[in-house]
Amino acid sequence: MAFLLVLSLMLSLVACLPNALTNLATLATATQPSGRKTFHDLGQFDWKNWTLTEVCLDCTRTSPSELFDCEYKFQWDDPNFNTSTVCNSSWKWDGVTMQNGPNNTYNTNYIICELAWPEVWQLKINNIEDELFELGLAHTCKDEIDFQPPEIAEFFAVPNFTMALMGRDDYSIVYAAKEPVSVLIQGLTSEPA
Ligand SMILES: *[C@@H]1O[C@H](CO)[C@@H](O)[C@H](O)[C@H]1NC(C)=O
Ligand SMILES: *[C@@H]1O[C@H](CO)[C@@H](O)[C@H](O)[C@H]1NC(C)=O
Ligand SMILES: *[C@@H]1O[C@H](CO)[C@@H](O)[C@H](O)[C@H]1NC(C)=O
Ligand SMILES: *[C@@H]1O[C@H](CO)[C@@H](O)[C@H](O)[C@H]1NC(C)=O
Ligand SMILES: *[C@@H]1O[C@H](CO)[C@@H](O)[C@H](O)[C@H]1NC(C)=O
Repeated sequence: MAFLLVLSLMLSLVACLPNALTNLATLATATQPSGRKTFHDLGQFDWKNWTLTEVCLDCTRTSPSELFDCEYKFQWDDPNFNTSTVCNSSWKWDGVTMQNGPNNTYNTNYIICELAWPEVWQLKINNIEDELFELGLAHTCKDEIDFQPPEIAEFFAVPNFTMALMGRDDYSIVYAAKEPVSVLIQGLTSEPA
């Protein structure tokens, strides 16, 4: 079992791995090689941070008796591969409840931002606490930079950062990250391409 090989420095990532791997397994079985996944020690790599720009949560409703329709959106750049995507996740919110549930339905499991195998970008929301947003991010791609022969690599991060409340009334709530968010890559698995 690959999980038994997880290094202690990666323990904090264990919680996020199964969802990402399950998503990929179910989506990509037709094209994915049946190689064994390897968890890597990060010390041997020197990656550039990912950058998230124009991070915004935009919630609107037409009546104060309804839940808000929220849209969480950002551009995500990976300067290690010079690739990028736009993530866009939608959920319902009463505008008050922070806890995930019927009154705040943000996705705690990975959703696909973009899938063009082997290029896959995934997002989940681990927690929201006032203005602190805790995310899980996973970028999968064919990696010919770190691996020869090339492998299918899946990079992980669990960034936490502040989104400032930009405005709110009965019909609209807007949060935005005022600066681009620099995200440290915290985990890597790979398998033969
Ligand atoms: C990405 O772009 C930078 C700057 O232009 C370049 O130095 C680097 O080699 C490129 N990397 C890849 C994987 O294309
Ligand atoms: C987000 O995605 C949904 C569904 O694909 C689309 O309807 C909506 O216009 C997108 N929003 C933005 C701001 O791109
Ligand atoms: C959701 O909010 C409504 C209205 O405030 C409340 O009646 C209901 O108990 C809340 N549901 C949960 C699961 O918190
Ligand atoms: C973000 O917060 C979570 C929960 O507190 C924590 O497990 C994770 O390590 C934090 N991420 C970073 C990059 O510090
Ligand atoms: C990478 O991101 C981490 C977490 O945000 C930050 O502490 C670090 O300074 C960043 N590194 C660079 C070179 O930007």
